[in-house]
Amino acid sequence: KDGLETVTEGKLTMATNATFPPYEYYEGKKVIGIDAEIAGEIAKKLNLELEIADIEFDSIVPGVQSGKYDMGMAGMTVTPERKNSVNFSDSYATGIQKVIVTKDSKIKSLDDIKGKNIGVQTSTTGDLYATDAYGADHVKKFDSGNAAVNALKVGKVDCVIIDNEPAKAYVKANGSALKILDTDYAVEDYAICFSKDNSELQKKVNEALKELKKDGTVQKIVDKYIKA
Ligand code: ARG
Repeated sequence: KDGLETVTEGKLTMATNATFPPYEYYEGKKVIGIDAEIAGEIAKKLNLELEIADIEFDSIVPGVQSGKYDMGMAGMTVTPERKNSVNFSDSYATGIQKVIVTKDSKIKSLDDIKGKNIGVQTSTTGDLYATDAYGADHVKKFDSGNAAVNALKVGKVDCVIIDNEPAKAYVKANGSALKILDTDYAVEDYAICFSKDNSELQKKVNEALKELKKDGTVQKIVDKYIKA
């Protein structure tokens, strides 16, 4: 034993929300994706067995904070608010918020979104931005990005604000029905979150992550899921 405390001895429990391709999603009954694979490599380095818990996105931070899970990894953006509740690892990827609309949409730019209904996944940064920029009355919250996209397809919302890679995956899955607007929000950093009481694990994960970046493992995993 090397003194590394985890929720279940010998295991590294990762809370995620597996509705977010290519970071975490299902292949059959298994959660795969960039986060799942990087976490698997980190667990290996720490001599722990990775266990993935697929929960609601807005339960991840509280679940990690209360010590129910060792860490949260979910394409999660580092934000000042979240930093009040949890600690973050070094960043391992970046994301950009994007706008998905239907092919024939009148929404051509961010200006056109005003007064329209925006679909988001609850408690994501897309939710926060949309609420800030366009007002809570116009923001329709869903429990997954997929559900928001489905609402867009049937006209229940006029656009969806979500991270760039999932946006690409959702649009691709829908043939020619949807498109992504050519407008960028700020670039965000994705990182793994930990309880503020477990800086030992945070430190160990950062060391592992550093090695995995240096030896090219992280890039290899990203390239496997994101084709240039
Ligand atoms: N990057 C965004 C955020 O942190 C969205 C993350 C959603 N992740 C997920 N696995 N559903 O708020």
